[in-house]
Amino acid sequence: MNKTAFITGVTGQDGAYLTRLLLSKGYVVHGLMRRASQFNTARLFELCADLPIGERLTLHYGDSTDSLNISSLIEDIRPDEVYNLAAQSHVSVSFEMPLYTSDVDALGALRVLEAVRCAALAQKTRVYQASTSELFGKVCEIPQTETTPFHPRSPYAVAKLFAYWMTINYRESYKMFASNGILFNHESPYRGETFVTRKITLAAARIMHGLQDKILLGNLSAKRDWGHARDFVEAMHLILQQDEPGDFIIATGEQHSVREFAELAFRAVGVGVRWEGEGVNEVGIARVPIFSPAGAVKGEEERVVVAVSPQFFRPSEVETLLGNPQKSKNLLGWEPKTSFPKLVEEMMMYDMRLASEEKEKSK
Ligand code: NAP
Ligand code: GDD
Repeated sequence: MNKTAFITGVTGQDGAYLTRLLLSKGYVVHGLMRRASQFNTARLFELCADLPIGERLTLHYGDSTDSLNISSLIEDIRPDEVYNLAAQSHVSVSFEMPLYTSDVDALGALRVLEAVRCAALAQKTRVYQASTSELFGKVCEIPQTETTPFHPRSPYAVAKLFAYWMTINYRESYKMFASNGILFNHESPYRGETFVTRKITLAAARIMHGLQDKILLGNLSAKRDWGHARDFVEAMHLILQQDEPGDFIIATGEQHSVREFAELAFRAVGVGVRWEGEGVNEVGIARVPIFSPAGAVKGEEERVVVAVSPQFFRPSEVETLLGNPQKSKNLLGWEPKTSFPKLVEEMMMYDMRLASEEKEKSK
């Protein structure tokens, strides 16, 4: 019998990669997607384009804030596995929308757990909760392990802390197979365009095509442990295949600054960046092509391609995150496959193609 999975947040970066993984393993997949005024399934269908999906993928309209909707879907689908990925996942936006973020990210997780329990599925359905390295926030130790104390620094992280503990509470109270994946940052060409990595690769590619002047960024010194989403969704699946539920850090064990990410993005297309100035006056300077009004390359010039804008600073920042994935390596047999330079290169090549298509269309 094929296993059945229910994925909330199926239209997001991880939802799309996870759907691809589960379909390729023979699963029947049900996804929760929000109704939007335009299609929001582009990355899902692009990533799964080469798979013989047939009737194995069903999308349902719904919302994590709608208890009845979540409950009736879980009761009808009776999934073997639930992956609760739906979230207002932007840390910066969570400062502007703390109540909505809490409703989706904290109560949304509880709605899933409670729906499984109320449908009398507690002994059948395994639940994966998308927990986050943001829980560590103002870090108490480096690197972070499963026993490092939490110090969340945003409404997003506080909401995810509630979801993390609810997952453990349902495990302890009702003997549910409910597990947390504490995932460090993971990126891909399908990353949302306002997260810093994709913002950089999209902008760098547009600068190289004469479509944009420069990138405005916030804290260039923030450090993250960046991996590839394609590798990280494999860990989500493995977490639900264990004999026992638990909480697992998924990370690469390597960290880089936003500044380094920007350097590597330009380097992937043969351009070096040098930095001048400090704080809000810091700039990245590079030799980039100049274009005629008709769009032809007419030479090169050295100019500012990265600048700092305080509008992208956060009320409280997470300066550094670095995970120790030893437990996952030992128990799940999971290790990241994609190196940091390969990740940046893959994202940059994808966005160079998008910029080239944009330029063609504008002619
Ligand atoms: P993402 O690209 O922002 O995707 C979030 C998904 O949640 C989208 O499908 C979105 O739908 C959906 N969603 C948002 N609000 C919803 C609501 N009210 N009801 C139902 N669905 C809703 O995020 P991601 O990078 O794939 O991350 C997946 C999960 O892992 C999130 O819970 C995130 O917090 C967590 N996480 C991510 C990372 C990371 O580095 N990527 C690290 C740790 C944890 P739309 O497509 O309609 O917007
Ligand atoms: N978004 C953004 N935009 N971030 C910037 C910018 C900018 O212009 N300039 C600097 N940064 C810095 C942020 O201040 C932060 O320190 C770092 O770049 C990474 O920001 P994001 O890419 O927005 O990701 P995040 O680390 O805040 O959150 C992501 O990772 C978490 C896991 O640690 C999200 O995917 C969360 O959902 C996830 O839980």
